[in-house]
Amino acid sequence: MSVLSVQNLIYGYSKGTPFEKGALKDVTLSFDEGDIVAVIGHTGSGKSTLLQHLNGLIKPDSGDVLLDGVSIYSSKESLRQCRFNVGLCFQYPEQQLFESTVYNDIAFGPTNMKLSKDEIDKRVRESLAFVNLTEDYLDKSPFDLSGGEKRRVAIAGVISMRPKVLILDEPTAGLDPIGKKNLLKLIKDYNETTGSTVIFVSHNMDDVAAVADKVIVMSEGRVAMEGTVDEVYSQGERLSQLGLDIPEITSVFLALKREGFVTGNTAYTVEGAVEAILKTLREGGNAE
Ligand SMILES: Nc1ncnc2c1ncn2[C@@H]1O[C@H](COP(=O)(O)OP(=O)(O)OP(=O)(O)O)[C@@H](O)[C@H]1O
Ligand SMILES: [Mg+2]
Repeated sequence: MSVLSVQNLIYGYSKGTPFEKGALKDVTLSFDEGDIVAVIGHTGSGKSTLLQHLNGLIKPDSGDVLLDGVSIYSSKESLRQCRFNVGLCFQYPEQQLFESTVYNDIAFGPTNMKLSKDEIDKRVRESLAFVNLTEDYLDKSPFDLSGGEKRRVAIAGVISMRPKVLILDEPTAGLDPIGKKNLLKLIKDYNETTGSTVIFVSHNMDDVAAVADKVIVMSEGRVAMEGTVDEVYSQGERLSQLGLDIPEITSVFLALKREGFVTGNTAYTVEGAVEAILKTLREGGNAE
């Protein structure tokens, strides 16, 4: 069932100036409850602009955003509810952190939700643990943290509202391989433990294959492709036309398949490739 959808979104920056720029050109999409959806696309294709429409941060020039089938613009209250239910982590965590302590930053959302002091405190500590930070971070200034830590605090500040849709704009950008792996695990864990929908932007096709159920490809302000990882990644040529590449392991795997060394479904992750090769070996296939 669709939890969030957008209909015919059109949006331009700097309207009425010589710098006018059409960033979204008729985008219609729907996000199903419990899915992990990756949004990919060339730089400037409209990914961040689209995400900021999903919680009402940017109002479209025309078109609509529906949460549980109701326009978020139908009343002040529906827009307010949308801000709590659709949690957005910005592309740059610095845009999100502004309080003097980590505690206050994570407590900001729940405080706006007018929850009790005890409930706010519980959520702050839970969210901090969820992003794998210890309680000694609570009194620190968010500005004294490393890039990876800032990102985790920013994410904790959003999940403390327990949004039913969690949106992350390039959450793995700038992280080292271990930080990246942990963050992808966090996405998966949040999705599995809460049943929430997660939407994230990534430039890394391998990361997308590792966690996403569905993929949306943006190009020049429009949806160029959408479907499951299999459906999208099997169209290597189309992806390359859009400035994207299938994962390296997939190219290797397809070559092995062409030569008859492996059979079965195409692999998009190293783990998937290992599994497929072992399966072929076990079945006494051509792999030697
Ligand atoms: N604040 C702004 N003012 C003017 N134009 C903007 C602004 N933000 C984005 N744009 C333009 O709108 C288009 C879409 O930008 P957007 O940031 O949504 O792309 P993106 O796919 O997120 O790119 P990236 O991968 O670089 O983050 C681009 O042409 C961009 O230059
Ligand atoms: Mg962006």
